[in-house]
Amino acid sequence: MSLAELAYLNGELTELHSAMVSIDDRAFLFGDGIYEVVRSYDRRLFGLDGHIDRLVRSAAAIELKLPVDAVGFKELVRTVYKKSEITDALVYIQVSRGAEPRNHLFSLDLKPAVLITVRHLPDYLFSDHMDPLTAITVPDGRWDMCHIKSTSLLANILAKHKAREAGVDEAIFVRRNGLVTEAYASNVFIVQEETVLTHPADNRILGGITRGFVLDLCAKQDLRTVEREFSRDELLSAGEVFVTNSVYEIRPVVRVDGQQIGDGQPGRVTGMLLQAYRALTADQ
Ligand SMILES: Cc1ncc(COP(=O)(O)O)c(C=O)c1O
Repeated sequence: MSLAELAYLNGELTELHSAMVSIDDRAFLFGDGIYEVVRSYDRRLFGLDGHIDRLVRSAAAIELKLPVDAVGFKELVRTVYKKSEITDALVYIQVSRGAEPRNHLFSLDLKPAVLITVRHLPDYLFSDHMDPLTAITVPDGRWDMCHIKSTSLLANILAKHKAREAGVDEAIFVRRNGLVTEAYASNVFIVQEETVLTHPADNRILGGITRGFVLDLCAKQDLRTVEREFSRDELLSAGEVFVTNSVYEIRPVVRVDGQQIGDGQPGRVTGMLLQAYRALTADQ
């Protein structure tokens, strides 16, 4: 395999394009993984220690259990790189949480998938580095584009994992300013008196299809709806709270952060809307 670009995937060394990951791989489905890119100069991996130490920190931050420790990982990368015999290479290291049928909640015993590729440096890196670049500024919209049904779901996954650790079902996102946005995989509604409130369909939430149906059903039932931001305090003091998505339709939430919502039972408005929603799905 001399001078060839190559891939190491889950213990197997192959030609670069022979490596295949599962369609159930969580990095593919959710962006549930971490990575590093290292360059080699004249057969030596540059800064490997720093890269692998950061990989280990990233893994810890997302509660991904690496199959080997930092020392073992560095050794693995060096071994894979040596097989390639590329003098100046780009070494890409990715660890996915692993493969299993799609579910935000990951299995705690899932085996991570480790990918290392070794490639020649791309041509653009051989240009004169003193050739000046030009740039534009853009708003820093990272983590701020929740309206896109994107597969970058790491924050949602970690939220659901936190819910599991807290022994509850749902994780409802609250921004630093105390305003509620949505839940890890659903939209959140509260009922105050006879008014149904939910966050406006802007960039801070995914505008749920179910959310739209629920707002229509409210109108048909002469329930007042308001699309506005509401606070965690309003959430906790609401008469009813429910969440919606296409899979679990409409589900009442009766306890949040250990506090009882309303009388602690699924509410009347929630029940009415669920019934109407069920009729709608039966009647399409
Ligand atoms: C973050 C988030 N919000 C809201 C929803 C609800 O969307 P829908 O009603 O279209 O299923 C989902 C569904 O997956 C979601 O992931």
